[in-house]
Parts: sequence; C-alpha cells; structure tokens
Amino acid sequence: MKKPVPNSHLNDLESYKGGKSKVDGIEIFFKLSSNENPFGPSKLVSNAYIDALNDITVYPDPSNNDLIQKLSDFYSLVPDKIICGCGSDEILHLLARAYLGGNDEAIVSENCFAVYPLAIKASGARVVRAKEINFKTQIQSILDLTNNATKMVFIANPNNPTGTMISYNDIIELQSKLPSNVLLVIDEAYAEYVKDENYKNYFELVNNNSNVIITRTFSKVYGLAGLRVGWAYCPKEVIEVLNRLRIPFSVNSSAQKVAIAALNDQKHVSDSVKHNAIWLSIMEEKFKGLGFNVTASDCNFLLIEAGSNLNFSAEEIYEFLCSKGLIVRQMKEYNLSDYLRITIGTEEANKLVISSLEELLK
Ligand SMILES: Cc1ncc(COP(=O)(O)O)c(C=O)c1O
Repeated sequence: MKKPVPNSHLNDLESYKGGKSKVDGIEIFFKLSSNENPFGPSKLVSNAYIDALNDITVYPDPSNNDLIQKLSDFYSLVPDKIICGCGSDEILHLLARAYLGGNDEAIVSENCFAVYPLAIKASGARVVRAKEINFKTQIQSILDLTNNATKMVFIANPNNPTGTMISYNDIIELQSKLPSNVLLVIDEAYAEYVKDENYKNYFELVNNNSNVIITRTFSKVYGLAGLRVGWAYCPKEVIEVLNRLRIPFSVNSSAQKVAIAALNDQKHVSDSVKHNAIWLSIMEEKFKGLGFNVTASDCNFLLIEAGSNLNFSAEEIYEFLCSKGLIVRQMKEYNLSDYLRITIGTEEANKLVISSLEELLK
C-alpha cells in the first residue's frame, strides 16, 4: 500500500530540542538551560495577564495593532515596518519560507542559534556555515562565502550559544558589501543585556535599506518565554510577504496585552539587566578559577568548556549539577560536547552552581 511521503528535503531535518526542564527521578530547583529571566515577569505583567482572561473567548486582533503601536512609540519606529510573531522563531521561519527555495543558500555563523539551520533546511535551501575566530562571527568569512546562490544571512548579535557579539561597524560593513538582493537578518534576542548605545542605530539600518531585518523577543529579559511573543522591524515589502504567509492569529490575545504591560515596566528590565551584569562577571571569574575555559559573554548566559585540565567531562559535570537540582544546557546538538551553557540565575541559583562545582572540582 502506498504511504503519504513528506517533501524529500525534510528527511534529514531534526526537530528543535529546547533546554531541558526536567530530569527523570531528580527534583530540579533551578532551570538554567534556556536563558529565561530568572525573576519571571513583573507584578504589572502578572496583573495584565489576569486581566487578559476577560478576552480569551474572542479571537485576538490579527494585526496586533495595540502592541505594534506601543513598540513604535517605545522605540520610535515606523509602525508599518513592525511585525509580531509567536516568538521571534515564527518570524525567522517565515522569512526562510518566504525568501529561500531549492537552489538557494543561506549563510550562518559556525556556532549559530540552532533555529536558523532548521528554518533554512525546512525551506529546502542549503545551510552554509562561516568560520568563526574565538567563537566570534567573522564578516569576512561570510562575505567570502557569498555567491549568486546566497539569498539570506542570519546573524544573532549577540549570539546564542557563544554569547559573543560583533561591532556596529562590522554590521555596517557587512551590509554595505552584501549584494542588495541578499536579506541580512540581525537577531537581537539579547539586545537588552548589551551596554551598546549603537543598538538604536541598527533600526536605522532598516529604515535606510531594503534588505535588513531586525528581530527582537519578549522571551528573554522581559520574562515572557512561555507566552511566545517576538517581533521584527523590516522593510514594508517584507512585511507584506510575511503577512501573506503567516497564520491569522499567531500572537494570542493574552500575549498581545501582556507584552504591552511588560514594555511599560522598564524598572523590571533594568533591575534584571543590573542583576545579570553583576552575576555574569562573578560567575565568569569563578568558572575560570575552577579551571573552565570561559567565553566572554554579552548575554545572560556563559558558554564554558570543560578542558583537559579538569578531571571531569562536560557530561559528568552536567549529571552532577542535575543531582544538585540544577539543570544547565548540554551542547551536543551544537557539536560542542565538551561545553556547557549556563544561564545566569537568581542569587540563590548562582551560589548553588558555584558551591556545587567547587564540591566536585576542588
Ligand atoms: C538568538 C536567539 N534568537 C531567537 C530566540 C527565540 O526567541 P523566541 O522565544 O522569541 O522565539 C532565541 C531563544 O533562545 C535565541 O537565543
């Protein structure tokens, strides 16, 4: 009997594996595997969520009007150039579906965010990885790989899982040297954690060019990963194409309301950023002191390598931390099996990470 057969380009596509939230037989106290805000949402946001309950019987506004207006006011952006999605993941996938096909190539950095290769392959196109130096995206290696088949470049700035970022000048140079038919997607999921005044200028790049897209998310510092809201600033023509593709109500009504409340509570954002900055440098020093190789990070996580000077493998360290109720991210699916990625948590979580590692390694 004949069976339904999916498109052949989907055969070697694996599904996305997020950070684990449980481990069989172990009570996990702190999830440090997906770079969420350890404080969760603010009080204002919780109240907005309860309030949003009144709306769940009717379909949400398919155009996300109020949220777009709020984003436009807050960041001084052109509202017609903003699109919201069910997480920025939805927008990344829509972009790949809309602009890539069978004979195309899309360039990503060697250790890029895992969603890009999935979205590229799902569209039938080829993933081309540009070499990094010290875990840093290199614009020259991207330019060297650009050819007639190249249709998109995805860069997370700063990047997950490495935590590294490239300068505003590098981005400007890359944009100016890329052919104008190549879409440059700059994913700023961790922007709020970066102390770089140039960030507001990236939006100008969208205003001044027809091939630049910036994506942002409410999943990280805003503490709304479970609600699934992301957005992008894009040329109008891109928005029109994405609007044809997207499902009508991908951002639910609670998500739309709560994201507005989250933007209204910038104190929560700045408190979270301050906490992160303090603990990022403490954790970096402690990890180094324990013998890990640590990549300097501009995000809310650290990528650490269990090098040959440690008596335990990354796998063994992961298992030990789990036994202490701490779940961090293994890096096997990124082909970095000697590494772990650890999200900066609450003070209590961070102290438990440090004391657990000291117990194991000292
Ligand atoms: C670089 C990067 N981009 C995008 C996302 C996805 O964000 P969202 O939750 O908005 O889909 C993540 C989540 O881990 C990320 O690390």
